Amino acid sequence: MSAPTLDRPAAPDEVALQAQFDATIAADHRIEPRDWMPEAYRKGLIRQIAQHAHSEIIGMQPEGDWLLAAPSLRRKAILLAKVQDEAGHGMYLYSAAETLGADRADLTDKLIERKQKYSSIFNYPTQTYADVGVIGWLVDGAAICNQVPLCRSSYGPYARAMIRVCKEESFHQRQGFELLMTMMGGTGAQRAMVQDAVDRWWWPSLMMFGPPDDDSPNSAQSMKWGVKRHSNDELRQRFVDMTVPQAAVLGVTLPDPELALDPETGRYRFGAIDWDEFKQVLAGKGPCNDERIARRRAARDDNAWVTEAATAYADKHAS
Ligand code: 3HC
Repeated sequence: MSAPTLDRPAAPDEVALQAQFDATIAADHRIEPRDWMPEAYRKGLIRQIAQHAHSEIIGMQPEGDWLLAAPSLRRKAILLAKVQDEAGHGMYLYSAAETLGADRADLTDKLIERKQKYSSIFNYPTQTYADVGVIGWLVDGAAICNQVPLCRSSYGPYARAMIRVCKEESFHQRQGFELLMTMMGGTGAQRAMVQDAVDRWWWPSLMMFGPPDDDSPNSAQSMKWGVKRHSNDELRQRFVDMTVPQAAVLGVTLPDPELALDPETGRYRFGAIDWDEFKQVLAGKGPCNDERIARRRAARDDNAWVTEAATAYADKHAS
């Protein structure tokens, strides 16, 4: 049954369904695929879950670039496992979007046609192996901060996918930190590489949490529906508070002269984020947007025969 619109008022049974949906959300219970849901809730979820899935898949590229250049067999095995995990996360998330009626191939097409977004963070280049460690520490650290609350998201399949994703992201974060600790205990040149990577990734990591609350068009409704549990700024602040002490343990400096503990709140104050840069990246003008999309397009096109074969095989078994 379709949801009511301005032109088409709700029929009596829709009123009852809407009331049941509202009661489920108010009781902090889960909405499941079999349940009636307002069309805007379904569309909003597809938007967020698809963007999230695309981020996991595109996110394989910056680190995948280092698979052939990993400095040891151990580092190669770790990185390979990590990049493979990201592919798995993308698959869980596309599956969650499918439970809402989305079509996976259609979502991929929308990504490639730039009609759907993916995380801004993956439009920056990985210049040295220290970037692999910093992505683990900062980018996966930010992802955990943002995604742990999504394990309590109101939509069941999304929340359940997030539980496994977060467990794996937690491993990713630790492997990044361990790699950086090793480099910081190495030569002066290695320490300089780590500091340089931290300088380049710090601000883009803060941008991952999305625009400030007063410029976040989706937040209010998303939080009312229990899809998002905390605002963008609240999660960004949590990430800063969590990360500053870790930077001290590592022995790196975060590139923000305004970073300081506020004795009254016990939280860290930090400098202004360059939201113009964020907007440029979202508009497709970041350092690597074109390259990321071109590669995803090539992967889709070059491997179309695999999809066709797998679909034919699945159809044969289904019939
Ligand atoms: N990069 C790209 N687009 C972003 C963004 C970012 N960092 N932050 C916000 N946006 C987009 C939003 O998608 C929205 O655009 P849309 O309406 O066209 O979809 C617009 O900017 C306005 O932002 P809002 O704050 O209103 O949007 P949301 O309420 O959806 O909040 C979000 C943004 C916090 C990213 C939220 O969608 C979210 O929590 N998503 C799930 C987590 C996710 O997608 N993470 C991406 C990183 S995954 C990852 O990091 C992989 C791991 O391996 C590291």
